[in-house]
Amino acid sequence: MGKLFENYVASYCLDRIDSREFFDIVGDLYNTDEVQGLAQYPQHSTINRLDHIRSVTYMSYVYCKKLSLDHVAATRAAMLHDLFYYDWHDGDWSHRPHGYRHPGFALKNARVLNPAISKKEENIILRHMFPLTVIPPRYAEGWVVTLCDKYCATRELLIADHVRFRNKFEEKKVELLYFKELLADA
Ligand SMILES: [Fe+2]
Ligand SMILES: [Fe+2]
Repeated sequence: MGKLFENYVASYCLDRIDSREFFDIVGDLYNTDEVQGLAQYPQHSTINRLDHIRSVTYMSYVYCKKLSLDHVAATRAAMLHDLFYYDWHDGDWSHRPHGYRHPGFALKNARVLNPAISKKEENIILRHMFPLTVIPPRYAEGWVVTLCDKYCATRELLIADHVRFRNKFEEKKVELLYFKELLADA
């Protein structure tokens, strides 16, 4: 559990740690107005959708690499897995039921943003809400992304709504950056 949390916290420190390979894979998507614009939408409590997506994407990248899976496809799909342009808390009937429908909205938007999207990436996006949506991911990479999504969602709710978890998060961030700086100086 400790490593999972460390990688989650690292997703908030990508400008301070060595994340060149990560951004080589996904920087072209991350730096678009469409993805950056997701910062305006709340995702889980006070955590915005851009922060959520960056965490899910970074963790998917780390764990798919560790498992020798297709980390490029997983990372690129994870970056677009919640690419929808509305606040899902707004109660608008056209988004309902949001939990079931937003993977389809995200996939449609992902195809516009990245016309070269692969079938595997499409499946990862479309199936990321399993088991809420009943068809499971077809690829191992899709399982990693859906698990990272659930881990991040849970963490975000805890951090946003409980001061104890927020303090733990802030402490870990300081610790992580302190050790990275020590390593860089060595
Ligand atoms: Fe989602
Ligand atoms: Fe998500």
